[in-house]
Amino acid sequence: MIDVHKIRLDFPIYETHPNLVFFDSAASSLKVKHVIDKVDYYYQKLGVNVHRGAYDLAYEATTLYENARQNVARFIHANEEEIVFTRGTTSALNTIASAYIKQLKPGDEIITSELEHHSSIIPWMIVAKKTGAKLVYIPLTKEGRITVEGFRKVLSDRTKIVAITHVSNVMGYLTPIEEITKFAHEKNAIVILDAAQSAPHIKLDVRTLDVDFLAFSGHKMFGPSGVGVLYGKEKLLNQIEPFEYGGEMVDQVSKDFVSFKDAPLRFEAGTPVISGAIGLSAAIDYIESIGFEDIHQHTHEIHQYLLKELEEVEGITIYNKTADNPVIAFNIDDVHPHDIATMLDGSKVSVRAGHHCAQLVSQFLGVQSTLRASIHIYNSKEDCDIFIQSVIEARDFFRQF
Ligand SMILES: Cc1ncc(COP(=O)(O)O)c(C=O)c1O
Repeated sequence: MIDVHKIRLDFPIYETHPNLVFFDSAASSLKVKHVIDKVDYYYQKLGVNVHRGAYDLAYEATTLYENARQNVARFIHANEEEIVFTRGTTSALNTIASAYIKQLKPGDEIITSELEHHSSIIPWMIVAKKTGAKLVYIPLTKEGRITVEGFRKVLSDRTKIVAITHVSNVMGYLTPIEEITKFAHEKNAIVILDAAQSAPHIKLDVRTLDVDFLAFSGHKMFGPSGVGVLYGKEKLLNQIEPFEYGGEMVDQVSKDFVSFKDAPLRFEAGTPVISGAIGLSAAIDYIESIGFEDIHQHTHEIHQYLLKELEEVEGITIYNKTADNPVIAFNIDDVHPHDIATMLDGSKVSVRAGHHCAQLVSQFLGVQSTLRASIHIYNSKEDCDIFIQSVIEARDFFRQF
């Protein structure tokens, strides 16, 4: 069971901001001391490049970097050859989209959904434009969920790609990805999973999910910003073209010939995100020291408490009462979400307001934007009470006008 007071000792931000009420973890989580220490160690004690130098410091940096890759692989049940360090989910998803430009032709179909974050859909919009392939949207349920039934309605022999979110960053709905992948593979389609929101909350197992590619970011799971992971099945990674070209990804070069290393290095051109990978590995260790079971139990309890309290506030619309991830999308009737978020900040309550880089979700809901409160292990019931009080004060303030 999680003791929030103890957990907060792991997050140095609470030393300088003891009254922080942080409900924006879906954007970026707070950072753990253990991660900061590991990143600090790299910069204080090493600071040199990897894979290149034949000296002790370079050897240790390379060992830490490659150990981080092994740790990520173990974390999601992949092989280390299947783990590419990227700048984040966005760059991982763009890498895959750009690789498949070569393989799509007019008439091919790319299945996606209105629940996608822009980074999971815009690359495919561009690919569709460039190749003549067509984007096809899974019909959502009234509530806004992706279902296997909905997916099967749009799956066809023309389907070549399924690019889909594991958990919506606004609605918090979990996609039934295992079944979707099974049906997609029957049509020989490639499945690309955006796991940016699931990785911080759910144990990922790429062998069970059986997706072909998967992406997530360090900064949403207590790790550093500027680092993410692209997982790909080894055979597929070695079949597709790299996104970037440069140092260390090359095997042989002559004046008119170049060949590339095998994955993962063929996708890590130039100096990689060394400190980021080391920090992400430390974040994984931290998550595992707590355990997904306890993380889920705590965040679910806080989520349900906050939801119940918010439901009792008059003048509020909640859009995702049955969310699987601990996130609440809501609005205060007739007040712009940005005004509310700014007022909440006055009470040290951090939430996100806007379209959350998922404008299709706002369009589905028929709103311009929403407020989003997202929860993680450092949130307490006291946070929820302060949040509710601040929401009521903000509502009453704007009602005067
Ligand atoms: C579902 C989802 N996908 C992709 C991203 C993009 O992640 P990043 O900005 O780390 O590349 C986010 C970030 O908000 C997200 O929530």
